[in-house]
Amino acid sequence: MGTLIQGGKVVSAASTQQADVLIEGEKIAQVAPRIDPAGHTVVDATGLLVLPGGIDVHTHLDMPFGGTMSADDYEWGTRAAAIGGTTTIIDFAIQSMGKPMSEALATWLAKAKDKACIDYALHMVVTDLGPNDAWLDDIDRMVAEGVTSFKIFMAYPNVLMVNDAMIFKLMQRTAKLGALVCVHAENGTVIDVVVQQALAAGKTGPLYHALTRSVLAEAEAVHRVIAIAEMAGKAPVYIVHVSCAESMQEVAAARQRGLPVTAETCIQYLVLSIEDDMGKPGFEDAKYVFTPPLREKKNQQPLWQALHDDVLQVVSTDHCPFRFADQKTLGLGNFTKIPNGGPAIENRMQLTYHHGVNEGRMSLERFVEVTAEAPAKIFGMYPKKGIIAAGSDADILLWDPAARYTITAATQNMHTDYSIFEGFQVIGNARQVYSRGELVVEEGKFIGRVGRGEFLHREVAAR
Ligand code: URP
Ligand code: ZN
Ligand code: ZN
Repeated sequence: MGTLIQGGKVVSAASTQQADVLIEGEKIAQVAPRIDPAGHTVVDATGLLVLPGGIDVHTHLDMPFGGTMSADDYEWGTRAAAIGGTTTIIDFAIQSMGKPMSEALATWLAKAKDKACIDYALHMVVTDLGPNDAWLDDIDRMVAEGVTSFKIFMAYPNVLMVNDAMIFKLMQRTAKLGALVCVHAENGTVIDVVVQQALAAGKTGPLYHALTRSVLAEAEAVHRVIAIAEMAGKAPVYIVHVSCAESMQEVAAARQRGLPVTAETCIQYLVLSIEDDMGKPGFEDAKYVFTPPLREKKNQQPLWQALHDDVLQVVSTDHCPFRFADQKTLGLGNFTKIPNGGPAIENRMQLTYHHGVNEGRMSLERFVEVTAEAPAKIFGMYPKKGIIAAGSDADILLWDPAARYTITAATQNMHTDYSIFEGFQVIGNARQVYSRGELVVEEGKFIGRVGRGEFLHREVAAR
């Protein structure tokens, strides 16, 4: 006996079809125009879309950063994700300087254990290749452990930033393995000079976080890292949080040349801007201090177009929440001390659907592709995740395309005392969420067991 989702429209990147979906145990057993309901529990999906659970490949849960910890741990962050229709995340384990990567992996697996409400995977943030580059071999070990993507920061000097030599060596190794290097691309050393000059001139408020990090600083780093990857043997590269047209154009040029470059933008860059959301009185702008910063509004349309045209493949969140009252205020009087990051994990699917599909910027099929199918393929989880097909995990959203919802901190599940999307009204929301066959969200409430989420051992993706 299984659960039969009957009468909905099943959507993939390739098509939308009226079909029934049979769940047996943790898996999808059958997808067909009509499945005999005898012996099954029937769920009526008439009028609903049946979508693969969302995959957010860029989150920072329980992360030490900016002198504090991100406000959502694995329980709260994954609960909020599930309520918003995301059933898989990829979070970041961060290698400590002077320590092997295996230690970071163990630390982050412990953070997630008994807490994660949905399935999770990890990228490894590489900060140190060790004495005589001895820890390059850790890369192979991580891949064997199912951590098939690595992350480097070209920003945050003296904290996470790595130099070009290290990037090159890392990429020579990942190119051989086919593993992916995710890149935070910003010219950290130039930005640091601009930041120090701003502070010296008394420009200490939160808006200066945005004004000291130019689009050129981002685009230059995107260009440079793609060139380094090519020199290293055409290493596969994934540019995270592309925030502006200039960076997107670097990605477009690389893809046009046939290089294995993929990239994401985040929902905040698609719907928020300096003009609409910053320049507020007092310290309010600190709520929007994340990196890269919000950009001028003129960048939004090119980013949407790039998603449409497959120059960008993924919408993620870079969810890195900090409370305003006691965390963002660490930077009162000095914007460099404001913890960088914002809350978004709960709202990605709603906002991408509303501003993408409802407002005519992308098709329903492309929505499924950028929020689930492409992330699964790029990060080595497909077809286990990212599609509604026989044999795949039963990670399924019953999506009500007519549901109206207003985003507000008053009712959100993320553990921040504000929302960067406060007052946004969307149409389209998850009515039910299944994770590996289990109904975990019903009408906006998490009803699953905390700690049920499993670590995903990922493969090296075919490219
Ligand atoms: O401001 C951000 N994005 N915080 C998280 C770290 C990062 O750069 O992704
Ligand atoms: Zn980043
Ligand atoms: Zn990030």
